[in-house]
Amino acid sequence: MHFKPFISEQEIQDTVARMAAEIANDLGDDIPVFIGILNGSFMFVSDFVKKFPKPCEVTFIKLASYEGLKSTEDIQRLIGLTQDLTGRTVVILEDIIDSGKTLAEVHRIFKKEKVKELKIATLFHKPEAYKKDFKLHYVGIEIPNKFIVGYGLDFDGLGRDFPEVYQLKTTQHMTNIVLFGPPGAGKGTQANFLKEKYHLIHISTGDVFRNNIKNETALGMLAQSYMDKGELVPDKVTIDMLAAEVEKNADAKGFIFDGFPRTDAQAKALEALMEEKDSEISAMIALEVDDDILVQRLLGRGKTSGRPDDADEDIIRIRVTEYYNKTAILKEYYKAQNKYFGVDGVGSVEEITERLSKVIDKL
Ligand code: IMP
Ligand code: MG
Repeated sequence: MHFKPFISEQEIQDTVARMAAEIANDLGDDIPVFIGILNGSFMFVSDFVKKFPKPCEVTFIKLASYEGLKSTEDIQRLIGLTQDLTGRTVVILEDIIDSGKTLAEVHRIFKKEKVKELKIATLFHKPEAYKKDFKLHYVGIEIPNKFIVGYGLDFDGLGRDFPEVYQLKTTQHMTNIVLFGPPGAGKGTQANFLKEKYHLIHISTGDVFRNNIKNETALGMLAQSYMDKGELVPDKVTIDMLAAEVEKNADAKGFIFDGFPRTDAQAKALEALMEEKDSEISAMIALEVDDDILVQRLLGRGKTSGRPDDADEDIIRIRVTEYYNKTAILKEYYKAQNKYFGVDGVGSVEEITERLSKVIDKL
């Protein structure tokens, strides 16, 4: 089980302060009764009432599980409401509202109470999971439908004491590699072997681009419109295409990115994309090949492929130099995170695969 930092102590405290101010402002001069739902809300309620700028009363009720008449049935009941709340302004303070089951129980027990007003305030809310239509008067932070821990919320009893909130990582560990190297370094060849060996999905930006344009997808047509004007396709469009490719392979063991990122901004966008998958880039692996050898390889390829840009030594040298100029920054980017690995790209295809495997096996 892995958890990653999700909401900082500062953000939580700011949110609680904002809620306290807003609620104080709305309630006017009534002395409210704040009711926390145990166990999860103890920390929120404690911080909330300290920030609440006016007199107030505080009490707690607790959700208890009973076995229903049919033993498979699990009935949840709120217990501990002993105070007379007739004519009072009551604000329920919840740590989190998820499906809304607890809230339904709150409304059930308050039906018989003759309160002046019943308001619902929750620090966290998962709109995607919410199945009821009770009004939520105050919501601190809306979060995606993922399990969180900390600030009163537990995972198997643990984690309630953390002042900040963590998110459960739901996806399996992925190996995500940025395969890097100048034109002619053998990226495509090696990617083909590595994807078989490690069951990874090979995403070649060039192929993704060509396919989107060929199939006239919305993103493909958008990209084409920039190209038609002679403009560079914005990073956002490219990363959206990659995101779609990543989404298509939701249960992948990992990805090999080839031809991307090319800029610092793209590297950051890729990081954000991986983050969304609860994952990260594991490594940038660069195939290192001497310029003279690249020139020989590309000239050789040019003889059979007929690609004009592979036929002229000067053009090849310019492409290689330009590649290094433009991408040096990426090497530094991944080096700073201890994720850069250079691999000797001269030798037989098998030898090079072997060298790459040595790096990947250690990730
Ligand atoms: P409900 O589905 O809105 O009734 O929420 C039920 C209860 O599930 C909450 O009071 C919490 O105790 C618990 N819960 C829901 N989501 C989370 C979470 O992400 N982390 C920890 N507990 C949660
Ligand atoms: Mg709760």
